[in-house]
Amino acid sequence: MERKEIVEKTIHFVKEKLAGDSSGHDWWHIFRVWNMAKKICEKEGGDLFLIEMAALLHDVADWKFYENEDDGLQVIFDFLEGLALDKTLIGSIIDIVKNVSFKGAGVKDKMVSLEGKIVQDADRLDAIGAIGIARTFAFGGKFGNEMYNPEINVKLHDSFEDYKKDKGTTINHFYEKLLLLKERMHTNSAKQIAKKRHTYMEVFLEQFYGEWESLR
Ligand code: ADP
Ligand code: NI
Repeated sequence: MERKEIVEKTIHFVKEKLAGDSSGHDWWHIFRVWNMAKKICEKEGGDLFLIEMAALLHDVADWKFYENEDDGLQVIFDFLEGLALDKTLIGSIIDIVKNVSFKGAGVKDKMVSLEGKIVQDADRLDAIGAIGIARTFAFGGKFGNEMYNPEINVKLHDSFEDYKKDKGTTINHFYEKLLLLKERMHTNSAKQIAKKRHTYMEVFLEQFYGEWESLR
């Protein structure tokens, strides 16, 4: 099968899997990450096909959708085997998908390959800036978290277990993840884009607290 056809089949598969999601992990998130990853690849290099496949599939196995991460990875594995892809390539794709997620402020990233770093950067760029802000509030609403509660403190999680089960506020999520991402970008291309998006979030928070404080 031609690579172009494989990418098209993957798009179809992902659209079906994530259809109707309202937590900020819908098809258009995937579309943005896929295109951002291609853009970064143009500047930074890496195997474009691997980058495209991993970007398209990166959220299919997300821990928020499957009780057990391995169940999600198995779904991806079966899909790729069905396309008769090379075993090494399947392994590389699964490896990226497995390591792409942010797992807490104090938990180190384990991405090794350039392709994985590019996909992770692209995913994280979509978590910050105006789109990142919108996604975060969409996610918070969907999972029943409070928007803001000045009585709940920010928590910098040292383990994935803690991070996963914590139901903090959406504003706290900025400190627990979003504002940390600028420093955790791998490629120079992503670092540059992140700067502007980071500043935009700081301005947003300043305005938010300004409005809140004006009521006291
Ligand atoms: P990753 O892409 O690193 O796996 P997630 O899928 O956990 O990240 O998160 C993607 C986006 O979902 C975040 O950038 C954020 O917008 C939102 N999100 C995740 N967890 C929370 C949370 N606890 N509160 C608010 N938003 C969240
Ligand atoms: Ni994602």
